[in-house]
Amino acid sequence: TTSRLTDSHGRVIHDLRVSITDRCNYKCVYCRTGQVGAQFAELKIEEYLRLISLFVSLGITKVRLTGGEPLLRRGLLELVRELAQMRTIYGDPLSLALTTNGHLLDSLAQPLKDAGLHRVTVSMDAVDEPVFERITRVPGSFQAVLRGLRAAKDAGLDPVKVNCVLLRGFNDDQVEAFAEFARREDVIVRFIEFMPLEEDRLWSPEIIVPLREIVDRIHRVLPLVELPPNEASETARRYTFSDGRGEIGIIAPVTQAFCGACSRVRLTSDGKIRTCLFSQSEHDLYDLARSGAGDAELRSFITRTVDAKEARHHIGEPGFLKPSRSMVHIGG
Ligand code: GTP
Ligand code: 5AD
Repeated sequence: TTSRLTDSHGRVIHDLRVSITDRCNYKCVYCRTGQVGAQFAELKIEEYLRLISLFVSLGITKVRLTGGEPLLRRGLLELVRELAQMRTIYGDPLSLALTTNGHLLDSLAQPLKDAGLHRVTVSMDAVDEPVFERITRVPGSFQAVLRGLRAAKDAGLDPVKVNCVLLRGFNDDQVEAFAEFARREDVIVRFIEFMPLEEDRLWSPEIIVPLREIVDRIHRVLPLVELPPNEASETARRYTFSDGRGEIGIIAPVTQAFCGACSRVRLTSDGKIRTCLFSQSEHDLYDLARSGAGDAELRSFITRTVDAKEARHHIGEPGFLKPSRSMVHIGG
């Protein structure tokens, strides 16, 4: 039986991002208020597996585990092992990736690889140690993440991507150094325009470092050559350097929105479907499952919910409303 998840705007939805905890061991200045905020329920590993398998039966081919910080989650390796056994409706293994701050990756990279994980993306907002730790607000975090990143490469979690959110006045001086870092460490560094998803009030259009500026600044010191997208729904514009060694990407949700080709849907750590990062409401799949709904009813709930996916976000437009929960609760 083949079926495909689609929405009313004609997009095919094949990526599922699952937050498996909203706990995090970092307090990044642009994400957390500093106090530990409200935390929501986590499901049992077997409950995530049931819900994910329903999505897979409807056509999901790629699963990304996020958080919070997913490496804090007990049962993670078991979850990855089970996901690695699942097959898509086309008969292939799922594409399995994870987004992490990298703090605990040094010891977990090899076990994750052995469990069947394919790729990791590590968040790193500076290559300068003091700047890095001013952002994460955790002493020792820079060296821990660097070890984690290298362990991921050594374990063959390939390609390793590094995500760097740029904020004017915090880390916008890191751009050129990150381009060098991408070449030196042989990782794909992706710069991200900051979006209004933080817990307290920080976002303004002026805080963004736009794609154009990032490209121009790197190009001045290391000439860039644009690369074609790997797939239509790719979030990043890709570039290599004139000698062909190394790759960077720029994810520009604000100045070059990629909603038109969006292929993503999210499941929150407490089992709710979120059809857009900026959704004003969520759809409680877990509650329906717990109330005794069978697979057919759950599948039809997923299909209807995904069909009503938002056309696009409205960042920077008059009347824009922040999502009902912040990034740490939604998952990257
Ligand atoms: P791969 O292509 O598998 O590497 O995954 P990806 O491109 O989705 O990358 P990743 O999961 O690392 O996401 C990178 C960043 O892109 C996220 O941290 C967000 O900042 C941003 N992003 C991802 N999905 C969305 C989305 O649906 N909407 C918006 N506005 N931004 C997104
Ligand atoms: N805008 C853009 N990216 C963000 N991230 C967290 N908050 C934001 C935001 N407001 C990034 C993290 C991490 C990924 C999960 O999302 O830095 O790389």
